[in-house]
Amino acid sequence: MTTAPRHFIDLPDIAPDTLKAILANAHRLKKRKFNPPQLFTGLSLAMVFDKRSTRTRMSFEVAMKQLGGHTVVMNKDEMQIGGAESIADTAQVLSRFVDGVMLRISSHEDLLEIARHSRIPVINGLTDHSHPCQIMADLMTIEEKLGRVEGLKIAWLGDYNNVARTFAQASAIWGFEFAVACPPDLLLGKNLHNATNPHSAVSGADVVVTDTWVSMGQEGKDIEKFWPYQVNAALMAKARPGAIFMHCMPIHRGEEVTDEVLASPASVVYDEAENRLHAQKAILAWCLEDAGVRIDG
Ligand code: CP
Ligand code: NVA
Repeated sequence: MTTAPRHFIDLPDIAPDTLKAILANAHRLKKRKFNPPQLFTGLSLAMVFDKRSTRTRMSFEVAMKQLGGHTVVMNKDEMQIGGAESIADTAQVLSRFVDGVMLRISSHEDLLEIARHSRIPVINGLTDHSHPCQIMADLMTIEEKLGRVEGLKIAWLGDYNNVARTFAQASAIWGFEFAVACPPDLLLGKNLHNATNPHSAVSGADVVVTDTWVSMGQEGKDIEKFWPYQVNAALMAKARPGAIFMHCMPIHRGEEVTDEVLASPASVVYDEAENRLHAQKAILAWCLEDAGVRIDG
């Protein structure tokens, strides 16, 4: 009887202690940035995309290679799965070629279906539902800048999307307040008890976060209702002194956040982007443990 592969699909699927250990390893691996342990020698990661990516693709590719492994990158439309081949057959065959697969695909249901038929770890590189690798890097960045995430107030402004949803999941796991300010119609049925207006959300916040108002696949969307949720200097001034500003990027300057905020000392967006690399290494090390990876060894 074989054990289930270590998928990294949604944060609540994984034990809180395991997630915290992965974050601790991300910090350790960052310290070894110029002396990376060769944890992935002989291992291969497939990466499948049906959407654009800069950070996710590059950080996974560099993470694998710096730690001695290999990558194969495919556009979903160029694979047989983009034609007639079933998800189940694709998952079975990938399991024979590589040691793990990271997918950025729109449909969360398809990702779950791939995981059900896969004998190797499946990693969620963003679906329309969630973006767990991003939030691991974000929490790492908050720990780095503010020393902890537990007990902090994190304010989310703008669209209630895949990244926001994953932050909300993380708030229950790590024990931070997640204050959401979004156009009210987006929050209908979301059961968010702390949904509020932008000023109350940011008031006393340790971290202010936003994301694009138009996620990939939503091109042409009307953004008029989002203007009151723009992160600008006047809004940032309501946050706690020393508060940081975060954004998963790509940024639409002048829409969800102003240049002034991005140029201010509060902005940690490039450290946040770099931490994708270190977090990816730690996520991969956990997923690939059954393939022989020993991060403590
Ligand atoms: N934040 C993020 O996932 O960026 P990419 O779309 O460039 O991968
Ligand atoms: N919410 C954005 C995140 C991009 C990394 C999107 O889905 O396009």
